[in-house]
Amino acid sequence: MGEKITRISITLPEDLLRELDRSLRSQDYASRSEAIRDAVRDFLANYRWRTELEGELLGAVVAVYDHEVKGLVERITEIQHESGGVVKSSQHLHLDERNCLEAMLVRGPAGEIRKLADRLGALRGVKQVKLVVVST
Ligand code: NI
Repeated sequence: MGEKITRISITLPEDLLRELDRSLRSQDYASRSEAIRDAVRDFLANYRWRTELEGELLGAVVAVYDHEVKGLVERITEIQHESGGVVKSSQHLHLDERNCLEAMLVRGPAGEIRKLADRLGALRGVKQVKLVVVST
């Protein structure tokens, strides 16, 4: 093999780490590192899939976020307004005391939809962004 390995250190909220450890035990993972390597590969595969999308798309962008992060709700609204009109409608669900889900129906150029999903995903306090594309 001869694959060069680099050690990095990451910070995680305690509850996320606890949940990770619980899931590792039930999945028989050998180590946290192995699980995080898989998660990074998954993240990159998803990113590659998004970058390869082209043409006019129809689908949904679903984001889960912590509305208590200062300025986040406003940022999410701004990003939708700046998205070149691809957000056709959005629905908001208050999940619990902190977490919100926003589901946006999108239609338009792949580049604009990708930019929307990328920008939302990069915000601090946004925990998940899923892009679903349907063919017509
Ligand atoms: Ni909410």
